[in-house]
Amino acid sequence: MSKMCGIMGYVGNGNGIHATLVGLKRLEYRGYDSVGVGYKKGGDLVIKKCVGRVEDICRRLIPSEDHSTIVISHTRWGTHGKITDENAHPHADCQGKIAIVHNGIIENFQDIKEFLSKRGHQFKSETDSEVISHLIEEYLKTENSFEEACKKAFSMLKGSFAILALASGEDKIVGIRKDSPLVVGIKENESFIASDIYALLPFTKEFIFLQNYDFITVGKGVVKIENLKEGKVERPVEVIDINLEYDGKEKYHHFMIKEIMEQSEVIDRILEKNNGKIEVFSKEISSAKKVFLVGAGSSYHACLYGSYLLTKAGIDSKPIVASEFKHFEKLIDKDSLVIAVSQSGETADVIEAIRIAKKRGAKIFSIVNVYGSTVMRESNDYILMNVGFEVGVAATKTFTSQLIIFLLIYKSIMGEGFDGRELQSKILDLLGRSRREFMEKVVDYLKEKDHVFLIGRGLSFISAEEAALKIKEVSYIHAEAFPGGELKHGTLALIENGTPCIVFVDRENKDEILSNAHEVKTRGGFIIGISPERDEVFDIWIKIPEANEELTIMQVIPIQILAYLLALKKGYNPDYPRNLAKSVTVK
Ligand code: AGP
Repeated sequence: MSKMCGIMGYVGNGNGIHATLVGLKRLEYRGYDSVGVGYKKGGDLVIKKCVGRVEDICRRLIPSEDHSTIVISHTRWGTHGKITDENAHPHADCQGKIAIVHNGIIENFQDIKEFLSKRGHQFKSETDSEVISHLIEEYLKTENSFEEACKKAFSMLKGSFAILALASGEDKIVGIRKDSPLVVGIKENESFIASDIYALLPFTKEFIFLQNYDFITVGKGVVKIENLKEGKVERPVEVIDINLEYDGKEKYHHFMIKEIMEQSEVIDRILEKNNGKIEVFSKEISSAKKVFLVGAGSSYHACLYGSYLLTKAGIDSKPIVASEFKHFEKLIDKDSLVIAVSQSGETADVIEAIRIAKKRGAKIFSIVNVYGSTVMRESNDYILMNVGFEVGVAATKTFTSQLIIFLLIYKSIMGEGFDGRELQSKILDLLGRSRREFMEKVVDYLKEKDHVFLIGRGLSFISAEEAALKIKEVSYIHAEAFPGGELKHGTLALIENGTPCIVFVDRENKDEILSNAHEVKTRGGFIIGISPERDEVFDIWIKIPEANEELTIMQVIPIQILAYLLALKKGYNPDYPRNLAKSVTVK
């Protein structure tokens, strides 16, 4: 199975190999340990694949003179089956006449493998995905077309899958989606299929978002869709005109630092597109009998922040980690409002939570960044974060935008004004060059450390949680966050001479958190204070502006920069951290 991948296909009159590789490069944030391309060349089927990135396969494997009008491709971050050339996609059948690429998990692949092995099929890889090409081959013996053989093969699969398949004797691509995303881009005489629209934006503005069990047959600018459960279906063609000016890394070395710096524009971009949704959300939340917030990772931390503000507004709400949601199913009913937060809109745990909640009669409101994503489509209403694609695996501008949306909802509920300009100037100040240069001191202290502890109270504890995730995710240093008062209930035993502890200080909790800092310092800890004011307990002081509800934004931005610089100092690529992928579309 492949934890997270990007797939891209092309059928048209143009140079399909070039177009596909351009799109695939834009999908690398979904997975990037191995890459492959399958294409028709005359009557032959060619498969080129290897461990490495898209530029590797271009340079090493694909003859520059090769040209094809029917192409499928794949960039993988596998967790099942080692990272080898053989386990890269596309996978072929025994005859080498069928090629498939797959994103998702085939849960019943062992049974299928057994069924096929008994019929003489030989497998070359350790992956679950490879059974798909052999299953199609098997059914080609009985079915009267490639499409029918694919339909039969796909209907045998259990799990999550977005699949594209082509065959040497066919002039089309066949595909299906179930739980893993797939979108079609169309143009005169050209069709593009990809895991998300980010890959398709350079080619078209017209998209068809596929639904679960949509089976597609794609020709040159022609797409036939039928649903394996509902039969013939019509899917609308949506025109999405996303401004590509924010595209690419531009002058930055990495997407992560580009997206950190883009936070100065986040407020405008949210306000530009929310067309009254903030008020809709605040009314719905204020009148709901029960409010739940659900998310994963940084989006879960945004849920904690949202719940904290709703508590301040006197509204009871329960933030739940998406993968734990089913354990709270009994609390959900027709009087429940579930707010799903997911920048990608494709996190499997969040999608599962939404489906559980809908079955219980709840209303789903979501906060997403990707238009047309599954979370958006399965919600009753949504707010689009509208901050442009976030390619770096670490959530930065999207986390800040989620917090600002919750802040706007809170202000609307409280009937208070919101001064976006003041917040924007504080963010700009935090992003300033001198701040970044100052952070190098902290980097030098932390770069050799194996552990760092982070403490805060109230909103500052939420900041500490998000900060810990940023540090872990891109610098691989073990970082753990605690409520300030919790450290002495056990973890203080881990503090040794020089152990770094990042302390988030805010006006409301200043005395208590500083005494917690002293508890750490007394035991030899090294204190890094994130605070509007200096204090003698700090060994390093990172100054941040005074703040009210926007405190978490002020406290997290310096740590985003710290995490980025730590990754560079340790020689890691912050855009593509090991073992991770941008959007976890499997449970
Ligand atoms: C955050 O830096 C991580 N990349 C990860 O925790 C992420 O927030 C999580 O996977 C949720 O992603 P989503 O917002 O797309 O649902």
